[in-house]
Amino acid sequence: EKGGFDTYMLKEIYEQPQALTNTLLGRLGEDGQVSLDIGLDPRSFERISIVACGTAYYAGLVGEYLIEQLARIPVDVDVASEYRYRSPIVNKSTLAVAVSQSGETIDTLEALREAAAGGAQTLGIINAKGSSMTRELGDTLYIHAGPEIGVASTKAYTAQVSAMLLLALWLGQARGTLSRERAAELVAEARRLPALVQEALAPERVERIRAIAQKYAQASDYLFLGRGVNAPTALEGALKLKEISYIHAEGYAAGEMKHGPIALIDADLPVVVVATHSDLLEKTISNLQEVRARAGRVIAILSDGDTENAQHADDVIYVPRTAEELSPIVNVVALQLLSYFTADHLGKDVDKPRNLAKSVTVE
Ligand code: M6R
Repeated sequence: EKGGFDTYMLKEIYEQPQALTNTLLGRLGEDGQVSLDIGLDPRSFERISIVACGTAYYAGLVGEYLIEQLARIPVDVDVASEYRYRSPIVNKSTLAVAVSQSGETIDTLEALREAAAGGAQTLGIINAKGSSMTRELGDTLYIHAGPEIGVASTKAYTAQVSAMLLLALWLGQARGTLSRERAAELVAEARRLPALVQEALAPERVERIRAIAQKYAQASDYLFLGRGVNAPTALEGALKLKEISYIHAEGYAAGEMKHGPIALIDADLPVVVVATHSDLLEKTISNLQEVRARAGRVIAILSDGDTENAQHADDVIYVPRTAEELSPIVNVVALQLLSYFTADHLGKDVDKPRNLAKSVTVE
């Protein structure tokens, strides 16, 4: 049942190219047009409120960046347990988007009900067919990632982020905020995503990540930094590591480092910096140098070919190059593997981490 893998989590990490194919391909036209199997009128709202928990919340944060960039619609993203109790401002011009693998998370379901009661239209980005949320949502955009058994979410996350990309492209095309050329470029690149993730899972890359994980497995704390569309990648990397290895980890937007977390940096602190190809790469590299200058141990995630930046790091994980908008999907695979091999080396039960349940149906 684990298809030859030791754990469901590892199996699901390797299923990502297939999961992405399932999420994306029927919806990306050869002509560069995105079509979604939902009834929602893409012009019928003025703002979007995304609600979710945990890893799904981080997919929502990537969604905020993509939708605002490509469709120019104001977006806010809330942790569902906060949204439901803070008297959110909702009306008929709001689209509430719930992101959930299970479709059963009680806080997300209640947040959705709160939004619907205020007159919002609702859309879900959901994996589990026929789950509770899908019965209440106006529209469901299924990610079709297949069953996810490992408690630590992996393939559902990359599929959720790719669904956010689809939504942003679809909205941008329908609302005329996205040029035909830019849309065509991004759609063409999105069609390559399954192959790019397959390449990120090439055996020599995986072995390198395993070696780095083992080298730092005795650390008691870890810091993850990223910027822009990859700031959520840093948050997700930290969550994944703490969930399965029980190593304390924090994720930060790289620009926030000077405002506090820099005080933590010393020779015992591994700092993972997502520094792949981006318009703001130079700024991230200077953050990385600041860590280095304080004797921190830098593990840099770099795009293939960016070898000149390797000099600023103790260890480098190279990942396939892609457009910045799509890079969170490729980059997070390296962080999933880093967590996996750290936990595995420490002898932890990766599929069933202590104190955690696969779906959280109580408050
Ligand atoms: O089923 P959901 O997507 O609604 O679950 C949300 C979170 O409970 C979930 O993502 C959790 O954070 C995972 N254990 C992360 O790996």
